[in-house]
Amino acid sequence: MSDFLWFEGIPFSALGHEKEIIGECCNKFGFRDEDTVILSYPKSGTNWLVETVCLIQTKGNPKWIQSVPIWERSPWVETKTGYPQLINQKGPRLMISHLPIHLFPKSFFSSKAKVIYVIRNPRDVLVSGYFFFANKNIIKNPASLATYFDWFLKGHVIYGSWFEHTSAWLSMRARNNFLLISYEDMIKDTRETIEKICDFLGKKLEKDELDLVLKYSSFQAMKENNMSNYSILPDHIIIKDLVLMRKGTIGDWKNHFTVAQAEAFDKVFQEKMAGFSPSLFPWQHEVICLLHCT
Ligand code: A3P
Repeated sequence: MSDFLWFEGIPFSALGHEKEIIGECCNKFGFRDEDTVILSYPKSGTNWLVETVCLIQTKGNPKWIQSVPIWERSPWVETKTGYPQLINQKGPRLMISHLPIHLFPKSFFSSKAKVIYVIRNPRDVLVSGYFFFANKNIIKNPASLATYFDWFLKGHVIYGSWFEHTSAWLSMRARNNFLLISYEDMIKDTRETIEKICDFLGKKLEKDELDLVLKYSSFQAMKENNMSNYSILPDHIIIKDLVLMRKGTIGDWKNHFTVAQAEAFDKVFQEKMAGFSPSLFPWQHEVICLLHCT
């Protein structure tokens, strides 16, 4: 199993990443004002958002999403294959990134490029990550959920600490070119969230076009779309039994955490995210109730 590739204190997967490319991406990648970036901590719903934005761009027409792999429609900027593709691409670009703010391309901070940052209950991020990474060659293999739980709280998982990633990026949320959405809102108010994304991107969709975006970005549609469900991967990446579309629900952590783990996680969450308004974390109310209400 692959160990991590460490770059400036952040663990990356050795699969698909190189230190030189990450460094070059950070220092030399030139953002254009018309670019759009889907930014997230891994396992927060990144691919769902990519599918949604692609469909918004085609006004609900599924031809593009059903004929071009998701990683070509929206290359991953800090990777070995995504970086060269993006620097050679003309016109407005759609891309994804999981980089923490201090490694993000510096040119972004003086550009008008748009970022959509998606956050998800980190407990569900943890569980989703565990099932995605266990027994694969993407990262060092976590032998059990308990092991992965410890790594997650210490930030010894790809892209480092969820708490640091999220608190640093949340500090950008007042900028005009930064849209914050949550996975939970995408699940509960999918249509409203898509409308919010359209407004942010300056796209106007008719009702029937919006219906098509909803239809083709649904969990079931993505699960059946070989261009989006990771059933095929780029030729240089061989990962057996990789499942992207696992459950697509909120609150699955409750099926996997012990009470002691739920309490330990919440203690860390309260400490690390203390400075933020609880309204930013729509799931937190339920967590507190579960742990403290009788
Ligand atoms: P689960 O493992 O909890 O099922 P990312 O794209 O950042 O890797 O996130 C993957 C998570 O997003 C997975 O969560 C996956 O099922 C969920 N997901 C992907 N597409 C989705 C969709 N259309 N609707 C709901 N959840 C989706």
